[in-house]
Amino acid sequence: MDELARDFFGRHPDLSLAALGSQANRASLDLMPAGCSATFYAAEQHPSLVERYRDANALAFPGDLTLPGWVLSDLYLLPGAIGMLACHGRFLEVPTRKRLNLGPDDVAIAAAYYAAPTVEPGTFIGVSLLSLVPKIVAGAWVKALTLKMLRAKRLRGVAQWASPAVRVHTRMGPLRVVSSVPGTHEFRAKSFVYESDLTDALAWTGAMARRAGGTPAEKIPAADTERLAALCERAEGGERIFVVPPGLDAGGNVLIKYGQ
Ligand SMILES: CC(C)(COP(=O)(O)OP(=O)(O)OC[C@H]1O[C@@H](n2cnc3c(N)ncnc32)[C@H](O)[C@@H]1OP(=O)(O)O)[C@@H](O)C(=O)NCCC(=O)NCCS
Repeated sequence: MDELARDFFGRHPDLSLAALGSQANRASLDLMPAGCSATFYAAEQHPSLVERYRDANALAFPGDLTLPGWVLSDLYLLPGAIGMLACHGRFLEVPTRKRLNLGPDDVAIAAAYYAAPTVEPGTFIGVSLLSLVPKIVAGAWVKALTLKMLRAKRLRGVAQWASPAVRVHTRMGPLRVVSSVPGTHEFRAKSFVYESDLTDALAWTGAMARRAGGTPAEKIPAADTERLAALCERAEGGERIFVVPPGLDAGGNVLIKYGQ
């Protein structure tokens, strides 16, 4: 992974890795994930960076999913840290920069990821992934490096079957389908809970490089929510079902494998 990460930052020298969280969390993070140096910003001392994160988040998640300020403080910054790819404003496309009210030399957030700690040591819940710079795999890189900063062993998260984010998530390896989404999530009907095993470094690196895959046993249209809901039910019943890399094909089908 170190070599791939070096190559990514070599190709994008304007990007740098950062973590933003409560001062108390600094010591628990690995600030050299995959050999990349990360700058830690204590949220208490960098309120304008917190604002910039909130603005970037609002751009990526408008409407129903807008992040309330208290959730950002209580559930993101206090228990953990947000991983970021930082850059100068000029790295962003002009319309994006304008919508964020950023000058060319302002510090900007190109991509960010937050995963929340759980009661199970080493297990995190993916909460929020955003990228404002498409086509350079920024989403997968910020996700992978943040999970490494957090020393995560296992990740669970909610994803929408038809979202390009499924392709990003499968860069961490196959996604085990865990269940439908508990509770009253706004996108419950078109989402599922997945789990990524992050303990096999070689497999993770292969997935990041898109070397790993697996022949799907079945391709299910991402819009076929009935069939996909049935899949979640089978997973809840104990069957092992995976979404295999790259997750979604060009025709909008989810790539499914059973067993193992
Ligand atoms: C999802 C998101 C993070 C991806 O950003 P990114 O990493 O910069 O995206 P990229 O351009 O590198 O594309 C990532 C992958 O999705 C694919 N993709 C991008 N747009 C796509 C589309 N409209 N349809 C299908 N696939 C698409 C790319 O081909 C790429 O696949 P690859 O990894 O196999 O190469 C970004 O679009 C975003 O912030 N969206 C809004 C917030 C959101 O939905 N977050 C996810 C919540 S779970």
